[in-house]
Amino acid sequence: MPDKSSKIGSVTGSGTRIVLFVDDEVSVLQALKQLFSDVSVMRLLTASSGEEALEIVRKEDVWLVVSDTNLPGISGIELLERIRHISPTTGRILTTAHADLKTAIDAINISEAFRFIIKPWDNDELKSIVLEALDRSGVVRDLAQCEVGAVSSIAQAIELKDPYTRGHCDRVAEYASTLAMKAGLPEESIVYVKYGGWLHDCGKIGVPRSVLNFPGSLDEPGMKIIHRHPLWGADVARQAGLPTDVVNMILYHHEKYDGSGYPYGLKGEEITLEARIVTIADVFDSLRTRRPYRAACTSDQVREIMREMSEAFFDPHLIELFQSIAEEVLVEDARRAATHHRDLVG
Ligand SMILES: [Fe+2]
Ligand SMILES: [Fe+2]
Repeated sequence: MPDKSSKIGSVTGSGTRIVLFVDDEVSVLQALKQLFSDVSVMRLLTASSGEEALEIVRKEDVWLVVSDTNLPGISGIELLERIRHISPTTGRILTTAHADLKTAIDAINISEAFRFIIKPWDNDELKSIVLEALDRSGVVRDLAQCEVGAVSSIAQAIELKDPYTRGHCDRVAEYASTLAMKAGLPEESIVYVKYGGWLHDCGKIGVPRSVLNFPGSLDEPGMKIIHRHPLWGADVARQAGLPTDVVNMILYHHEKYDGSGYPYGLKGEEITLEARIVTIADVFDSLRTRRPYRAACTSDQVREIMREMSEAFFDPHLIELFQSIAEEVLVEDARRAATHHRDLVG
């Protein structure tokens, strides 16, 4: 099982983080070596053709490939597609000097590239894209050896990026699996719901910290980025070969029963049962915790907001079943708050 205590810099996961840059221009490769020379968390390899790159990928455990589109021999898109088959957990980024629509579409559909970078790039931006992609690869690789302990430690690594949600994934996993049990789901599904609870926000690994921890309401571009986290998360989980049920919980955890959620605006039972369970647990725990943009709600406020949301947001049968789970937690919250208050004034 990966050791999370050996987390270096902002990159999650364990092992030597090998990044392979592929470009037929020697000057570009040299500039890249120079640019990343101060990043100690990764080992940088280079190749000047697709064939050379494939040879390296077959021999070395490459975490991330950053390839130019125009290469002698096989193209960058073909190269990334082949790498996807040889080593599915290797992250893929494509660079190009000629940004046309066909190349962009091929990059997404054929090579399933994670990012598409236009040359000439901004050095700082490229650096942060590569480090983010390494983070993402780390999560994918850890998830690929999915065990209960590994999944929960990945959730904790994600929370490090978003300090306001510390412990949140653990609690969502607990409330969601209790609700799944009450709803009479089979044993295997209850375990998956626990995974879904732990991992529901794993797409946040792709959201910049500045957006994640923004103190106030986000502007439209910021919201657009946030709204993509279920898609990114599902992508990571799919790439890691997690069961479809778990992928769907990540993908649909912000969908709402009345169809007003995101990313797809699904309605009612179009949203999978397990995802409807995770949504209730997620909203409930989010309200109880402080966020960069608001304080934590009191127990009474949580009751009130959950009641208001019930009709439109949640599965009516599930929210009914959730009442007693919520009450137990809220009574304990109120008791703790009263003790805290007494300690402060006493
Ligand atoms: Fe989320
Ligand atoms: Fe959440």
